[in-house]
Amino acid sequence: DRPQTWSDRFEGTLHPAIAKFNASIGFDLELIEYDLTGSCAHARMLAQTGIISSTEGEKLVAGLEQIRDEYRAGNFHPGIDAEDVHFAVERRLTEIVGDVGKKLHTARSRNDQVGTDTRLYLRDRIQQIRSQLRDFQQVLLTLAQTHVETLIPGYTHLQRAQPLSLAHHLLAYFQMAQRDWERLGDVYKRTNISPLGCGALAGTTFPIDRAYSAQLLGFDDIYSNSLDGVSDRDFAIEFLGAASLIMVHLSRLAEEVIIWASEEFRFVSLTDRCATGSSIMPQKKNPDVPELVRGKTGRVFGHLQAMLVMMKGLPLAYNKDLQEDKEALFDAVNTVQACLEAMTILIQEGIEFRPARLAEAVASDFANATDVADYLATKGVPFREAYNLVGKVVKTCLSQNKLLKDLSLVEWQQLHPAFAEDIYAAIDPKQVVAARNSYGGTGFDRVRQAIERAKVQIG
Ligand code: ARG
Repeated sequence: DRPQTWSDRFEGTLHPAIAKFNASIGFDLELIEYDLTGSCAHARMLAQTGIISSTEGEKLVAGLEQIRDEYRAGNFHPGIDAEDVHFAVERRLTEIVGDVGKKLHTARSRNDQVGTDTRLYLRDRIQQIRSQLRDFQQVLLTLAQTHVETLIPGYTHLQRAQPLSLAHHLLAYFQMAQRDWERLGDVYKRTNISPLGCGALAGTTFPIDRAYSAQLLGFDDIYSNSLDGVSDRDFAIEFLGAASLIMVHLSRLAEEVIIWASEEFRFVSLTDRCATGSSIMPQKKNPDVPELVRGKTGRVFGHLQAMLVMMKGLPLAYNKDLQEDKEALFDAVNTVQACLEAMTILIQEGIEFRPARLAEAVASDFANATDVADYLATKGVPFREAYNLVGKVVKTCLSQNKLLKDLSLVEWQQLHPAFAEDIYAAIDPKQVVAARNSYGGTGFDRVRQAIERAKVQIG
């Protein structure tokens, strides 16, 4: 069927496959609450400016609120013939309030309407995601506080590099989430701008008050150019960019958890509450949660790419291509929200660090080699010379199946007369970490300061 909302310029019926292809009602019903809210504000503005009477305005608002009740009660199921959520609402409104319902669309187009709905939707979700980021940060911070003096090997190239405070490692993710939170705050500023009143593309002949409807809707500003207002999707692309970075961060942490949980690392064990099994291998316990997070990251990147490509060739102003923004946005929002929730739970109760295994790991490698070079450099040996000498020591130790701590003082002194008894303290893993007390470093005192700063950051 043809949506009745179109004019009588059409004859006959729309091809059913075309109707289905064209319709967005299958996914844009997600916007209904925002569509109703936007329409109420528009109706109020029409009454306020005298474009319709105040009685008419009240009838429209009451009818729209009735649709909201019907929807919330599970009693609103528009079919494909409604085409989209906007037509579905207008049609139902006219059924409820009669002919006055036909006045709602005065001085408005679906083009400024859908832009308004999408911004109202996204601004809500941005706030939800920001609060989820805060929960995630809190969980990381709480875990970090219990692990300031727990050591974990630090890696570059996935090769043992220098040992770290586990708290320092966790706080790195806290800071990534902090930037994500800030970035979304910035996206919010450019999302919370009203296109309502831009009309189809050129504004309207009616004496509307755009500032009034914007104020009713809690927008901070209004678009100053009607063409731009109806065709701008920068805010959605910015959001997808910010969402992609959130996913990058979650995915990197997910990857670490997967590695840590492997038999080769055994740095964490997965709790039964958050891990999953195999259908054939009875011994298996799988990190499905972080794997899914890592896997879902790709689809958010895909939506960003899809939206960029969708926009890049569009002439002004509205083009139906823009209808494609919604599924991308909704899926990205839902994916980010689900992944943030799952990762927060995973960090809170899905993994347990294994202190004994971590201690064993940091005690059995050459991750303290830099500290031997630093030791000599402190005693006046030029760093590069010290570095070369320690390289030789490591080579010798490897050939003799020894660690640095296994060398006798005589052996150390044969290597260089500057070595004294205190070399053993200098290469002890705990001391190695404690000594990296430069600002931003992993030294315990610095990490404790970082925890205090982190508390302030999340308020
Ligand atoms: N369903 C449409 C969308 O999602 C609403 C706007 C339609 N506007 C138009 N001129 N056909 O973009």
